[in-house]
Amino acid sequence: MGLTLTEKILRAHLVDGEYVKGQEIGIRIDQTLTQDATGTMAYLEFEAIGVPRVKTERSVAYIDHNTLQNGFENADDHRFIGSVARKHGIYFSRPGNGICHQVHLERFGIPGKTLIGSDSHTPTGGGIGMIAIGAGGLDVAVAMGGGAYYITCPKVVKVELTGKLRPWVAAKDVILEVLRRMSVKGGVGKVIEYCGEGVKTLSVPERATITNMGAELGATTSIFPSDEITKQFLKAQKREEVWTPLAADPDAVYDEELQINLSELVPLAACPHSPDNVKSVEEIGRLKIDQVCIGSCTNSSLLDMLKVAHILKGKTVNPDVSLAIAPGSKQVLNMLAQNGALSILIDAGARILESACGPCIGMGQSPNSKGISLRTFNRNFEGRSGTKDGQIYLVSPEMAAVSALTGYLTDPRELGDMPDFQLPEEFIINDNMVVPPVDEADMDSVEILRGPNIKPYPETSPLLETIDAPVSLKVGDNITTDHIMPAGAKILPLRSNIPKISQHCFAVCDESFPERAKSLGKSIIVGGSNYGQGSSREHAALAPLYLGVKAVLVKSFARIHRANLINAGILPLTFVNEADYDNISQGDELVLADIRKAVEAGKSEITVLNKTNGKEIPVLCELSGRTKDIMLAGGLLDFTRESMK
Ligand code: F3S
Repeated sequence: MGLTLTEKILRAHLVDGEYVKGQEIGIRIDQTLTQDATGTMAYLEFEAIGVPRVKTERSVAYIDHNTLQNGFENADDHRFIGSVARKHGIYFSRPGNGICHQVHLERFGIPGKTLIGSDSHTPTGGGIGMIAIGAGGLDVAVAMGGGAYYITCPKVVKVELTGKLRPWVAAKDVILEVLRRMSVKGGVGKVIEYCGEGVKTLSVPERATITNMGAELGATTSIFPSDEITKQFLKAQKREEVWTPLAADPDAVYDEELQINLSELVPLAACPHSPDNVKSVEEIGRLKIDQVCIGSCTNSSLLDMLKVAHILKGKTVNPDVSLAIAPGSKQVLNMLAQNGALSILIDAGARILESACGPCIGMGQSPNSKGISLRTFNRNFEGRSGTKDGQIYLVSPEMAAVSALTGYLTDPRELGDMPDFQLPEEFIINDNMVVPPVDEADMDSVEILRGPNIKPYPETSPLLETIDAPVSLKVGDNITTDHIMPAGAKILPLRSNIPKISQHCFAVCDESFPERAKSLGKSIIVGGSNYGQGSSREHAALAPLYLGVKAVLVKSFARIHRANLINAGILPLTFVNEADYDNISQGDELVLADIRKAVEAGKSEITVLNKTNGKEIPVLCELSGRTKDIMLAGGLLDFTRESMK
C-alpha cells in the first residue's frame, strides 16, 4: 500500500510512539520559527529550560506583529528577542524584514523538513512541501532544546485539484471553497494534502495562500507536493540546492477525499464573522465598502502585489474607500520598488504600510464604526480588526483591488482579459536584515537585554490532589483565542508581561473576569463547543494560569488551545453529555475529588460534583502517557526541566 506525502515525512521524523492514526506521536523538528507576539514568552521558556544553544537545523525569530512603537514595550521586546537569538544560536529577522511566513517561505523553508512555529499560520510552509505546524511557544522552546514535538497522528484528507483557475479567480477562492465545504471545524485532527493535475497550474505563492488558510479549517497542517514549480521558486531564491522532489505514492490511501475542479470556481468572500461563512459575489449582492486592506501572511506575495498593481494602474482609489497595502516582505517591497509597481500603487492613492502583519493583528487601520472592510487576510472574527462592530470580508487581492476602485464589492472577472502574471526568474536576494547568531564559543560575550516589560513565566504548581473551586466564568460556543486574550495595539505590547496582560483576559466577554478570578484564588471556566479556536496564542492559557484557573470544562476544544492548556498545567475536560453544560452556572462550586489520583491511574471518565445543585456530571479527561505526566508535573516547562535533569 502506497504512502501519502504526509505519512512519508512524518514517518521519516518519528522519534516516539507508533504511527497509528489517532494515537500520539513524537516527531523530530528540523526548523522552528517564532514571531514577536509569542516569541518573547517562547524565549523566556527556552531560557528557563536551560539548554545553551538551539539543537534544531534552523531556528528563526521574526519581528512582524508588534511593530508599532508607541511606548517602550515593543522596542524592549525586540531587543530582548534579538539578544537571546544572538546568544543561543537563532537567526533574527529584524522588524522591517517582513511577515514570518512570507520570509520563511522565501529564505528558509525546505521541502520534506518539519517546521513548528509559535504562530497558527505556520502551515504556510506546506506550500513548498514542508510539514509545517502551528504550535504553542513552549512547544517551540522544547523543540529548540532538542525535544520532540507531539501531535495526534493525523488522518490525511486528499484534495484532488483538476482544471485551471479561470482569469481573476484566485488561490484565495480555492481555500475559501475548501472552507465552505469543510467548515472551521472540518480539518481537526487532519492534514489536508493537495494533489492532482491542477497542482501544476499553481505557483508556490498560490499554494502557500492555500496552505496558510488551512489553519482556518482547524487542520494540523496542509501540504503540497514538491515539484518542478517548487524547484523554480527555490532557484529564483538562489536556494535550488535545498530542493527535493516529493509526492504521495500513486496508490496512497487517504482517509477522506475531496475534489475541486479549479475551472469551475468563482470569486468568493468569507462574510462576517467566520472564515467559513463563504458566499459568491452574486450571493452577497451590492455591498458598499469603507476600507480595503491588502497584505498579511495569506496574500502579500510579489505575485499578489503585481496583480494589484496591474488593476490599480492609472486609476484612483474610490473617494469613499481607504486602501492600505502591506507587502509581505522586504524582498517583495524591494522588487515592487525596482520594477515600478510600487509607484503605481502610490500613484493610485494606496496607503503603503510597513512589511509586517499590521492591520491583520489590529496594529492600526481599524475600520470606522460599523465599517465594511474587505481584507485579503485569513480571519474575520468579531473585534479582531480593533473595531467592535466592524464587518470584515475576506477576499482575494484581485477582488480587493478592483473593489477599492469601484467602492463596492466587485467581481474581478469584470476586469476582462487577464495578463499571464509570472514570478521573476530571480528575486532580489539581500539577507542583511537577518542577523545571524554569534559562534557558540563567543556566546558568553552576548548580554541579554531585559527591559522592564520582560516579566518571568507565571508560577506553576503540580496538579492538585482535589480541585474544589467555583466557576469563575461560563461562556458559549466558538470562543476564540481572541475572546480569551484579545490582540490589538494596546494589548500586544504586554505579551512578555503576563501580570499586566492578564487584566485583559476575556475582556470582550466579561470585563470583570480578571479581577473576579484573581480574587477567587482558584477557579474553573466552563464553555461550549470549539473552545479556543483561532490562533496559537499561548497567552490564552498563560493569562488564565496567572489568574488561578485550574481546569476548563467545555463541550469540545480546538486542538492547539487544548495543547496550550495542558502545557500551562490547566486541566482540559469535556462533557460526556453535552446537555450537562446546562447543569452548571457561573458561580457554582465544582469538586473534582481525587483528581490527581484519577489522572495518575489514567482514568479517562471522571465525575464532577456540582456542590451548588448536587448534580453529578460525567466528564472526559483524556490524557495520554506523556500529557498525563505533563499535567501531573504542573505543565510542560516543569515536565521538561525534570526530564532534562
Ligand atoms: Fe501576521 Fe496576520 Fe499572519 S497577524 S502572521 S499576518 S495571520
